[in-house]
Amino acid sequence: MLPTREEAEKILKEAEKCNPGAWSNHSRITACCAEKIAEKFDGLDSEKAYILGLLHDIGRKFGVSHLRHVSDGYSYMMSLGFDEAAKICLTHSFNSQTLDDYIGRFDTTKDELRLIEDKLKSIEMNDYDRLIQLCDSLAGSEKILNIEERIADVKRRYGQYPQEKWNKNLQLKQYFENKIGKDIYTVVGKDHFKI
Ligand SMILES: [Fe+2]
Repeated sequence: MLPTREEAEKILKEAEKCNPGAWSNHSRITACCAEKIAEKFDGLDSEKAYILGLLHDIGRKFGVSHLRHVSDGYSYMMSLGFDEAAKICLTHSFNSQTLDDYIGRFDTTKDELRLIEDKLKSIEMNDYDRLIQLCDSLAGSEKILNIEERIADVKRRYGQYPQEKWNKNLQLKQYFENKIGKDIYTVVGKDHFKI
């Protein structure tokens, strides 16, 4: 289940008041990119893609956190009955479906960590999961970035970025470009995008 577009926008606005920061506009940019790519992609619903993009980081409502924003987002969306958004809160940080290459701090409780581990094992990733992973790596907080630029920014902030994760991001871009037969930066309007 998913909220409507208007409900999702309201949820993000409220969350932003609880923990103001660059993450909320990053979420909006992720949503816009996801919507535009989904419009061109056979079998993906662009409205759903927008909503999932908007809510992927919603766990940040509960304060500045690293891994915890994943379990917080998952639990928050599940508590509202939005299981599809909950799944995205979980999968967006793990493009290899493993905790091994998570680059932030492990700031969860043991139970929260177990929740993430268990869900990651049982989940089957689909094109929505892959789409939000891609858009998360394109979306800055003010503009759409080159994937390499964005990864370099994360690397600068965290001090490292696993090569496998880097490769996976580039593969995701290639996957969507092959499917839609167009350059991703052109599809999302990278150079003219305004928030
Ligand atoms: Fe994100």
